[in-house]
This record gives sequence, structure tokens and C-alpha cells, in this order.
Amino acid sequence: MPQLAKRMGRAKPSAIMAVADKAKKLKSEGRDIVSFSIGVPNFLPGDHVYAAARDALAKDSGQYGSNRGSDALLDAFLQHIEALGLTGYTRMHCATGVGAKHILYNLAEALLDEGDTIAYATPYWTTYADIAEVLDARILELPCPASQDYKLSPAQLEVALATKPKVFLFNNPNNPTGMVYTREEIAALADVLVKYPDTWIITDDIYNMMVFDGLGYHNFVQARPELRDRLVFVDSLSKTYGMPGWRVGFMAGPEVVAKAITVLNSTHITNLPEVVTAAAVAALTGPQDVPVAKCAEFQAKRDLVVATMNAIPGVICPKPQGAFYVFPDISCAFGKSHNGVAIRNDVDFCSVLLEAKGVACVPGSAFGAPNALRISYTCPTAQLPVGLKRIEEFFAELA
Ligand SMILES: Cc1ncc(COP(=O)(O)O)c(C=O)c1O
Repeated sequence: MPQLAKRMGRAKPSAIMAVADKAKKLKSEGRDIVSFSIGVPNFLPGDHVYAAARDALAKDSGQYGSNRGSDALLDAFLQHIEALGLTGYTRMHCATGVGAKHILYNLAEALLDEGDTIAYATPYWTTYADIAEVLDARILELPCPASQDYKLSPAQLEVALATKPKVFLFNNPNNPTGMVYTREEIAALADVLVKYPDTWIITDDIYNMMVFDGLGYHNFVQARPELRDRLVFVDSLSKTYGMPGWRVGFMAGPEVVAKAITVLNSTHITNLPEVVTAAAVAALTGPQDVPVAKCAEFQAKRDLVVATMNAIPGVICPKPQGAFYVFPDISCAFGKSHNGVAIRNDVDFCSVLLEAKGVACVPGSAFGAPNALRISYTCPTAQLPVGLKRIEEFFAELA
């Protein structure tokens, strides 16, 4: 039998989905499972989004569309990013993709040759490593432990950029930590970035509308507009609008990069479907009450999760200010056991917690941070205290 390509030896299925699959299996066996695992928003977009999709279906042309994305969708995206404070972009600076994941993969293909280095802070979203590995790029991890609120410091960035990575990939608000950089922190990092013109900058900021405590969303180009020539902003409808399955992602950046993504679209997908495009335009330009209400709901849930986790002796739980994740350091449990089952590390912790208490979380090692676990708190509101109580009990039962 012929062999698969070598790169497939480096490709691996998402570690996050592995936990979700195990939880699903236990559920199908009749177990009462509370899922804090997969990062899905767990709400649906407003009615106007479905109405737009139905309307588009009724008028469907059945034709191929634009590789870059339809003019209406690009204009809707431009309007959206202007409201975020990213001004001066035109359609030629933008491109669409099948979710931000697809955009990020295409950006990596467009910007990295084999052996080039991509630098990013750890903890990181699992897919960053997966993409780099498939493309045979070198990874430069910049460790940001709980003791520094999981945030990258300007000094760390300076040391990393001095090694001239081809790409610096930044994620704010962050998955898995939920951390958000303040205006001042962004400005301080931007001051470092301007000194290293050989590095592309990608800001994967798909949770930009899920920021709490009035902190606001900030981007390096607002602090240092001269970064525009090499900074690519990535966005998505998945989390903000409750549309992960619709698969709509965007980028805004230098024209040459937007063109490269458009060319890759022509190779891979041709275009986003018409019905999806219509729904996406409606989400971006229609009433924003669903994302606004969800942001407030997530902030309240964040408060409950952080308070509960910090009340557990030994757990260190920095307070996130965005997205819908909390990332407590639970290493105090390592070396203990639960009902005789040893907990050596984060993977054991999550596995024993799921088996014993029916609560699914993702081990921090999936994000390069094996002292922690990720709690994604988008479950139905009534389930949140139930799952948290079980985690509290679990800790109390450790010996
Ligand atoms: C930081 C980050 N970037 C990108 C994505 C991918 O989003 P999409 O559904 O648009 O592919 C995710 C999804 O979990 C994410 O957390």
C-alpha cells in the first residue's frame, strides 16, 4: 500500500475534541455529564440571521462566487472593524475564509516557508501548534505562567523578536486563558514590535466583542499605525454571533497578504456559499443585542467560576477579562489520589474528574500549559453551579 505524505505523520487530531468525544460517549451511556470542555458559544444567532439565510436560499443563484468574499460581506466586515477602532482598511485589505481556523492555516501557508519560525505565547490555542507542525515550521514558545497572569511582557517579546521569527502570532482575548491585554499593555508591546521590521504580526482576536469590565478591545495598529504594513488582524463570526458551524472567518491586513489569501481560496475553496454569506452580512450589520447580552452573561459566569476556583485551597485562578474560558492552575492536586486513583498530572486530573464526577474539562497540556486546566463556561446557566460544585467536591476528596 502506498504511504501517506510525510506531513501527515505530523498532523494530529485536536486534543480538545478528544475530551469532548469521551464526554459524549459517557453521556450516550446514560451518565450525567456537565461539559466545560469544548469552546462553543452555546447560543444561536438572532432571528434576522436566519431570515437573511432563508431569503438568500429563495434567491440562490447557484453560481460560484468571489474568491475574496462578496462585496456585501467585505463591506459588512469593514463596518464591523471600524466600530472596533480599526480604520482605513478597504476591501483590498480583506479576505474571507471558512472560519478563522482556515484563515490562520492559509496565513501560515502564505507567510511561512518550511523551517521558518513562528513565535507565540504559551498557553496557546492548540491549533497554532498543529498548523505549524503540519507546515514544518519551527515553533518558538514564549512561556507566560499564571504568576504573570498568562500575559506576555514587553521584555519577553523583545528577546523573542531579537531572534527574528518570521511570524509573531498574538491572541487577545486569549483562548485558553481568557486574558485580555489593556490599552497600556498593547501599547508597550507595540513599542517593541516596531523595532523588529522583519517579523509578520498576526493578531487572532476573534473574541474581540467578548471583553468584560469595560476594558475594551485594543490592537497594536491603534497604538503604532506604522505596524499596518505587516500586521494581519483575524476575526470570525463563530463565537461572537453563536455561529461556529456556519464557518465564516476574516482577515484585514496588508493588500499583498489579502491577495495571497484570496489566491489560496481560489485553490482550496473558491468561495463561501451564498446562503452563508447572506447570514454573515445580517449578523454583522443587523441588531447586536444577542452578542451584547451574551457578553454580559459570560461576565457573570466568569465571576462565579473564578470565585469558586479561588476558594479551593491551593488552586491559583487568575481573573480573565474576556472570551469564555477560565484557566486555573491545579497543580496542587498532582501527586494526590481520588478514591485510590493516582493523579500524576493534568491529563490524569481531567480523566479522573470526568470518570468520577462527570465533569469534562480540557487538560492544560493541550495548550502547552500542563499545570492548568481549561474551563469553558458556556454551558446552560443552571448547569454551571452544578459542575463547579462537583469540582469543589472532587478537590475535597483528594488524598
Ligand atoms: C483563539 C481562536 N482562534 C481561532 C479559532 C477558530 O475559530 P473559527 O471557528 O472561526 O475557525 C478559535 C476557536 O476556538 C479560537 O479559540
